[in-house]
Amino acid sequence: MSDISPPLTLTSIQVLHQQLLQQLEQVSSLADLEKIRPDLTGKKSPLTNMLKMLGQLPPDARKELGGFLNKVREEVAAKLEERFTSLQQQALDQKLMQEKQDVTLPPRPETVGKIHPITQVIEEVTQIFAKMGFELAEGPDIEREYYNFTALNFAEDHPARQMHDTFYLPPAHNGKELGGVLLRTHTSPVQIHAMRQSAPPLRVLAPGRTYRCDSDATHSPMFHQVEGLVVDKKIHMGHLKACVIDFCQSFFGVRHLKVRFRPSYFPFTEPSAEMDIGCLRRDGKLKIGEGDDWLEILGCGMVHPNVLKMGGINPEEYQGFAFGIGIERLGMLKYGIPDLRAFYDSDARWLQHY
Ligand code: PHE
Repeated sequence: MSDISPPLTLTSIQVLHQQLLQQLEQVSSLADLEKIRPDLTGKKSPLTNMLKMLGQLPPDARKELGGFLNKVREEVAAKLEERFTSLQQQALDQKLMQEKQDVTLPPRPETVGKIHPITQVIEEVTQIFAKMGFELAEGPDIEREYYNFTALNFAEDHPARQMHDTFYLPPAHNGKELGGVLLRTHTSPVQIHAMRQSAPPLRVLAPGRTYRCDSDATHSPMFHQVEGLVVDKKIHMGHLKACVIDFCQSFFGVRHLKVRFRPSYFPFTEPSAEMDIGCLRRDGKLKIGEGDDWLEILGCGMVHPNVLKMGGINPEEYQGFAFGIGIERLGMLKYGIPDLRAFYDSDARWLQHY
């Protein structure tokens, strides 16, 4: 912009008027408009300069040109606002055009999360036992040797303490010695916690992580079990059998499932048994509920009187049964998973498949 103002005449005002209107017409963006705004109506714009010069004119001319000049100024200011609004709208339209969704684009593949098979099996098992009136219970993964073995009637020098391939931890102190601490080797210690927490009758289900120092295609140092415990008056082996048979039929969805109970030994149950279910092994495949083969599915028994006593329950008055099932094993059988270790590999493709 030049500092030299044109002489103040009707013609010079008209010329300026046309110039300004033209400038406004030509401006094509909001940014450009802001750039020329001071030249149009600013304090140092030619138009303002002309207004300042009015004072030097004789009264008649001042009145005539002043009126005209003010009209021009108003018009330029109005046109400026008009351009501003329309450029703003234009910018918005442009932005909207760019952001327009192309509905013909193919969709991106969506990754849907899935429940881990272990969690899924635990949920299925829990639901079946919930229908039989079992309530969930929990115990710590880091357990006292006392609850894991001693209170469960394992003798101090019982070989089963070694049999369990226990992960021992440094002993716990609490001012005084609290005895050995370990990663629980089974969910059976929850039996003791449950009995000490509430009085019978009890129907308790305790799924959870368990640990043994063992690792191959069928053993993992961390695995899962679900413990069941029922304590009531006049409970006998028939209750135990009906309960676990019902469970297996439900879980595998086979109505006439063949089962057999083999005598076994656990320090915390007497008598003890292992339950097998009938299956067919052919061409490396396994079919539950058919054939003449047997597959071990759980350990169980009548709660040993010593264990009831350890739980603060009078064995003369109450009896109980308990069972322990391996969760991974259930999952491998139901979903045909051949290698236990795949459960813990965290391979998303594998998880997606099951
Ligand atoms: N705790 C036993 C195991 O880990 C299973 C079991 C539970 C057996 C309850 C009898 C009763 O092998």
